[in-house]
Amino acid sequence: MKRVTIGFLGCGNVGSGVWNLLEDIAPQIAHREGLAFTVKKALVRDAGKARGAQVPLDVLTQDPAQVLDDPGIDVVMEFMGGEQPATDYLLRALANGKSVVTANKMALAANWHLLQAQAQAHGRGLYYEAGVCGAVPIIRVLADSLQANRVNKLLGIINGTTNYILTRMAQEGKNYEDVLYDAQRLGLAEPDPTADVEGFDAAYKLSILSSLAFHAHVPVTRIYREGITNITAQDVAYGQQMHLTLKLLAVAKRDGQLVQVRVHPAFVPDDHPLAAVSGAFNAVFLQGHACGDMMLYGKGAGDMPTASAMVSDLVQAARATPHRHPTFANQAQAPADLNFDCDWASVYFIRLCAVDRPGALAAIAGCFADRGVSIASMMQKSTVVDGRVSLVFVTHQAHEQSVMRALRELDPAVAALGSVIRVEGLES
Ligand code: NAP
Ligand code: HSE
Repeated sequence: MKRVTIGFLGCGNVGSGVWNLLEDIAPQIAHREGLAFTVKKALVRDAGKARGAQVPLDVLTQDPAQVLDDPGIDVVMEFMGGEQPATDYLLRALANGKSVVTANKMALAANWHLLQAQAQAHGRGLYYEAGVCGAVPIIRVLADSLQANRVNKLLGIINGTTNYILTRMAQEGKNYEDVLYDAQRLGLAEPDPTADVEGFDAAYKLSILSSLAFHAHVPVTRIYREGITNITAQDVAYGQQMHLTLKLLAVAKRDGQLVQVRVHPAFVPDDHPLAAVSGAFNAVFLQGHACGDMMLYGKGAGDMPTASAMVSDLVQAARATPHRHPTFANQAQAPADLNFDCDWASVYFIRLCAVDRPGALAAIAGCFADRGVSIASMMQKSTVVDGRVSLVFVTHQAHEQSVMRALRELDPAVAALGSVIRVEGLES
């Protein structure tokens, strides 16, 4: 039996889940893998606080050195969150010869190159399956199972909070603020929801996924990001009437050296596999040149789903020698030969508030035509608000800058912009 001693950094929701899951599954892992785990120390801010696990008081510590500098600790598991001091602690643990298992996508996305270089320099492992999509094993699939593929497209619902909010808006016809308030009351959204609803959390995760998928570092700073706070119940409902379902989508596409990486609200057709991903579930849909279409689906958060990924990583960390590292260079910057596309082609859903009189539609269509934007379908609502009606257009594939230019050129006396939302998943 190989004895593996663990140090925890943090012991909140995820840490308590890992503690409980280890207690539950330890006999089977000992039997199957010949590994016996002991948690020696767990760093917390407040040792007197109630926890979701029965962690003995003498295991809890407020001194990071008791985890990071103890030569008796083999693997450090991190679930404190935040970029700092977590990144410094992880670097120190690696320098001290410990492998690291982390759920912290923020620390990872911001400092991946430093952490990887440190892990490689000290011959230790850096494992982060739990950092993206919780229990869904997307990291291992991209890093290992799809080695024989060129992955040129990845679409993900990788934030459960926003998917829960958008699902309820669609099902109940409620507006964003009401559903967010309810989700916070139920403990399903954070008291400060910014990281989720503004798309930061999804951007950290997309940086990790797209780097692995493209075998090239995609810094989080190169990801276009837009959240869901401006989404209206009206847009969700009009989309439904046009057989479209709204999601906060993480999009990564590659065409040769040209790359698009973006997080923003996007409609997907009702018959796309991602449209059926509802509530707090996560899913990643991808296309590999050899494997074809594939979708991974499951729970992206919660103590036990996240612990599931972390304990699996722990087993890898404990038995893998040498440890594997990603196949792209450990650089802060993207490789020089990657070009980031800022004028991507997409289908657009455009809602205008227009006067209802002869010639209005022709004037609007003229603006689109002048910029080469072709209309695929159109819907007019008869309800008049402030003397105007809603006109909804879905375009054919059009370039972002052409669409924005056409919208800027609309005569305000004829039509004002209500919303513009991208549509993904229509192309093959
Ligand atoms: P949490 O419940 O707030 O737990 C954080 C833990 O870290 C607490 O035990 C806290 O101590 C400790 N801590 C934080 N800052 C510290 C510091 N400076 N010094 C010492 N201890 C410190 O957070 P969580 O929900 O478990 O999430 C943890 C990480 O997992 C985050 O990176 C998150 O993004 C990631 N993650 C979470 C989920 C999820 O479902 N929650 C899913 C996937 C990934 P006290 O207990 O004393 O306050
Ligand atoms: N806040 C994240 C989400 C969970 O809503 O998906 C942790 O990754």
